[in-house]
Amino acid sequence: MERPSWAPDGIDLDRPSSARVYDYFLGGAHNFAIDRQLAEAISSMTPNVGDTMRANRSFLRRAVQFLVSEGVTQFLDVGSGIPTVGNVHEVAQEADPSSRVVYVDVDPIAVSHSKAILDGDARTAVVHADARDVDEILADTAVRDLLDFESPIAVLLLGVLHFVPDSDDPAGIVAKLRDGVPAGSYIALVNVTHEDQPPEVIEAQKLSGRTGTPIHLRSREELLAQFAGTELVEPGLVHIPLWRPDSPLDVDDRPERFGALAGIGRV
Ligand SMILES: C[S@@+](CC[C@H](N)C(=O)[O-])C[C@H]1O[C@@H](n2cnc3c(N)ncnc32)[C@H](O)[C@@H]1O
Repeated sequence: MERPSWAPDGIDLDRPSSARVYDYFLGGAHNFAIDRQLAEAISSMTPNVGDTMRANRSFLRRAVQFLVSEGVTQFLDVGSGIPTVGNVHEVAQEADPSSRVVYVDVDPIAVSHSKAILDGDARTAVVHADARDVDEILADTAVRDLLDFESPIAVLLLGVLHFVPDSDDPAGIVAKLRDGVPAGSYIALVNVTHEDQPPEVIEAQKLSGRTGTPIHLRSREELLAQFAGTELVEPGLVHIPLWRPDSPLDVDDRPERFGALAGIGRV
């Protein structure tokens, strides 16, 4: 397959990437046939997965609006993804134009496309880094230049730590980020779960191994442990649509069919 102009050199065109599969589920244009094949294979086993990804994006919007309403206008979005509809800086700056956002992702296309659309926006920055390298992220010049570490910062880890295996200590990653931001900051998390899920979800999850970054479904207890040292804001750690829905009508009859748990903790 020929490399499209928007894909940086060095991309493995024969291996799906989690960022591009997600982009495809959200209706984006930055994905390859290999990504679409994987997305369709997963969908055929567990049709709820596309809804879950869209519900995650809707949580992102509600979470950012909530955080700005709490007076937080600085965001460190780790595992930010390929820019699509309703990016963090758009939601935050609509609520408060002074909001500043640093996007961090390990995927070269997510980084290059973010840089392309944010070129010239002095209130945003893009960092190419792995979520596991917290010290590197917190010391990054772009992060230090844009964010004021004397004021609360919202750290977003939405749909990213399920790509980090237990052996790389996801709770330790959150703890380091928590310790790196001032009191009054927030940590927002979304992670896929096996809680309340039918067996085909567990089977479909195995397909994610094709990307080279398999997904790790986690229990409520494991995810609550990631909020250590923070105070969970209402309604706590819940299936995505149950987290402060815009309207009760937005909550599905079976919110557990969105196989991910979401929560926000105050540091
Ligand atoms: C499902 S997308 C979520 C995007 C966005 N946070 C959202 O909620 O809409 C997951 C993103 O995490 C990124 N990612 C996966 N593992 C990562 C890691 N170890 N460090 C940084 N980013 C990672 C992927 O490249 C992808 O862009």
